[in-house]
Amino acid sequence: MKRIGVFTSGGDSPGMNACIRAVVRASIYHGIEVYGIHRGYKGMVKGEIYKMDSHSASNIIQKGGTILRSARSKEFMTPEGRKQAYEQLQQHGIEGLVAIGGDGTFTGANIFYEEYGIPTVGAPGTIDNDLYGTDFTIGYDTAVNTALDAIDKIRDTADSHDRVFFIEVMGRDSGYIAIPCAIGGGAEIVMIPETETSIEYVVDTLRTGWNRSKTSFIVIVAEGDDAGNANEIAAKVQHELPHMDARVTILGHVQRGGSPTAADRMLASQMGVACVEGLLQGRKCEMAGIINRELVYTPFIDTITKDKLINPQFLKLVDILSV
Ligand code: F6P
Repeated sequence: MKRIGVFTSGGDSPGMNACIRAVVRASIYHGIEVYGIHRGYKGMVKGEIYKMDSHSASNIIQKGGTILRSARSKEFMTPEGRKQAYEQLQQHGIEGLVAIGGDGTFTGANIFYEEYGIPTVGAPGTIDNDLYGTDFTIGYDTAVNTALDAIDKIRDTADSHDRVFFIEVMGRDSGYIAIPCAIGGGAEIVMIPETETSIEYVVDTLRTGWNRSKTSFIVIVAEGDDAGNANEIAAKVQHELPHMDARVTILGHVQRGGSPTAADRMLASQMGVACVEGLLQGRKCEMAGIINRELVYTPFIDTITKDKLINPQFLKLVDILSV
């Protein structure tokens, strides 16, 4: 393999730039050329493909977002779009791809390989940490720390005004962001999609705390929770506990930005090198990841279809620590 392409796709996450840098530097180290594909699959279809050199990856390791831009592409979901993407790669002589993204990105890469035989090795790039095949994803640590910083600040107000705050965090269908936010932020309750938490349970827990002279509370709500969004949950609880003063904060996209933490820069750097070396070893349709501190490659099909389970002990921990 003499020439590869690298792109970021799906939601951006802090550390993507560190991963791009690692892909560029590892390619140069191994004597292959590297092209940056802008705006993910969308740019691949349109031919937004540019040669990168060592200098293109200078001074980006500490930056949030992605210098290659990102997008969710409707065009690539169609056979015509993928044909155009393949033709673009052919024109640029690109023989392999490094995809930095999540399960949607890897689903696309799998289909593309079946149709056109272009091998892709993936780096887990999402704040959600919902990918099977790695203990942590690039951007997760930063997102959790950003959320925790906000939760600490909200606690000051909750405490000063005797309030109950419902704080909604991201994570799509997963509670991976919510759990450390609840434990690290000292929350009384965490609501995640993986387990059912009834409104009755929330009301009872808050009432019990109130009767024990607790005057402020934090409830962390994962955005995908079955009980509803933070506004809906807060309204139902407030109806049952009219003497309490409920407020809602939705942290939103603030969790996706910012300079990556040391842990994310380390992970991103390892993943970028592992992707390039994986391609050179002849890997295809696999995601690099770290499990128990060891580098592993997991077939895309597993990262897409298998669930990464939340350790139930963490939920127990929230209960114990909020007594
Ligand atoms: O996958 C990352 C993520 O931030 C999720 O946590 C969230 O549900 C989603 O992306 C939001 O996507 P968008 O930026 O397209 O609104």
